[in-house]
Amino acid sequence: MKIGILISGRGSNMVALVDAVKRGEVPDSEVAVVISDKPTAAGLEKARKCDVETLVIERRGRSREEHDAEMIAELRKRDVELVCLAGYMRLLSKDFIHAFPDKIINIHPSLLPAFPGLNVQQQAIDAGVKTSGCTVHFVNEDLDAGPIILQREVEVKDNDTAETLADRILEQEHGAYVEAVRRIVSEARVASDSM
Ligand code: GRF
Repeated sequence: MKIGILISGRGSNMVALVDAVKRGEVPDSEVAVVISDKPTAAGLEKARKCDVETLVIERRGRSREEHDAEMIAELRKRDVELVCLAGYMRLLSKDFIHAFPDKIINIHPSLLPAFPGLNVQQQAIDAGVKTSGCTVHFVNEDLDAGPIILQREVEVKDNDTAETLADRILEQEHGAYVEAVRRIVSEARVASDSM
């Protein structure tokens, strides 16, 4: 399965996926391209070091639909079937979501449906929850609300700051994202073998 990864920043989840695919932990798959909407995203250099093709597709004053149409075209050119959002900070258009039905996934640093949106580690601390974590979910038209694929829990400690909690959640995110992609790829393989 050809995988496309969308990023806007650091790209640590992207690197976790690329490394896992290269190590054969996600069989029969390849990361075909990493696309960033930000030319300054640190993840771009990391992807290049991993020998993965990178593209920068900026919004440049275009509508969301025009911007997404260019991304759809580039992903289709490379036969991408699974789109992984990895710290991609823009909302996707309906057109994009319909272009890859049930094949867009995202990782979010809370146990959804708790704490959707931004600054979620601080939200968890402010709410006083004792457990947070991360969620890998399918992307639909509602923000952080698509069907959940898997979650991993992380204890919230009394002395946690948003940063210390984010760091411990991130450690879990990398393995969770690889596991979710592995499941999706193997389920797709079983489905195609039975046809
Ligand atoms: C992660 O915490 C992810 O859950 C959220 O954005 C952050 C991206 O980090 N959606 P990275 O760019 O993968 O390092």
